[in-house]
Amino acid sequence: MRRKFIVGNWKMHKGPADADSFADGLKRALAGKNAAVDVGIAPPFLSLPAVVARLKHTGIQVAAQNLHAEASGAFTGEVSGEMLRQAGVAYCLVGHSERRQLFGETDAHAETKVLACFRSGLLPILCVGETLSEREAGHERDVVTRQLTAALGKLQADQVPSVTIAYEPVWAIGTGKTASPLQAQEMHATIRGWLEASFPAFVARSTRLQYGGSVKGSNAAELLRMPDIDGALVGGAALNMEDFLQIIAAAG
Ligand code: PGA
Repeated sequence: MRRKFIVGNWKMHKGPADADSFADGLKRALAGKNAAVDVGIAPPFLSLPAVVARLKHTGIQVAAQNLHAEASGAFTGEVSGEMLRQAGVAYCLVGHSERRQLFGETDAHAETKVLACFRSGLLPILCVGETLSEREAGHERDVVTRQLTAALGKLQADQVPSVTIAYEPVWAIGTGKTASPLQAQEMHATIRGWLEASFPAFVARSTRLQYGGSVKGSNAAELLRMPDIDGALVGGAALNMEDFLQIIAAAG
């Protein structure tokens, strides 16, 4: 009942000119194919309008990488969920580890940003995951459970399946070190268990859990075969058409 969902997070890559040609290429490559897999891309803010225009009516989803929690106001340099929605964006990443590590975002920000997504009609992709030192200390489950409780714990049960949860161990992001399928499955089972313990049963059954962290064409299939891995949030490999298509094919 959970369709696989592959999202490419471009981070600060591909300005409007490059984004245009990538979106056109993706549209051509997926036309009439992979109907069983949901696909999305998360370009930088400036490239969103071009990508939204190119991907209209294709079924390929467009996500922003961040939003400000307020709808409008004196917040120089920020972009609100309402503005993203007006621009035709459907999804928004929340709490990516680069936001947490490099831009000081906390669990409290993740909570208000998830709520801002709901208020503005965006579907959140909430990123959670432990650092290397947290894993070495054996705290990975506690860290992820804390992040989930803060960001999602107060939602209404029927809101939760609209959230995609991306488990991204920080030590695997952009490092070439992927969690093994078993390591990833173990953490996905922990997340599914938290959903089961926190909400009525339909929530855990229907909420999609993506894995992220050095997903490539060569390891996607074995990760996506795990029972609780419903997709992937892909960074580096999503910048190259051939690699991204290989990952989408592995999900089909
Ligand atoms: P990576 O990034 O695939 O380059 O490791 C994943 C992410 O940050 O979402």
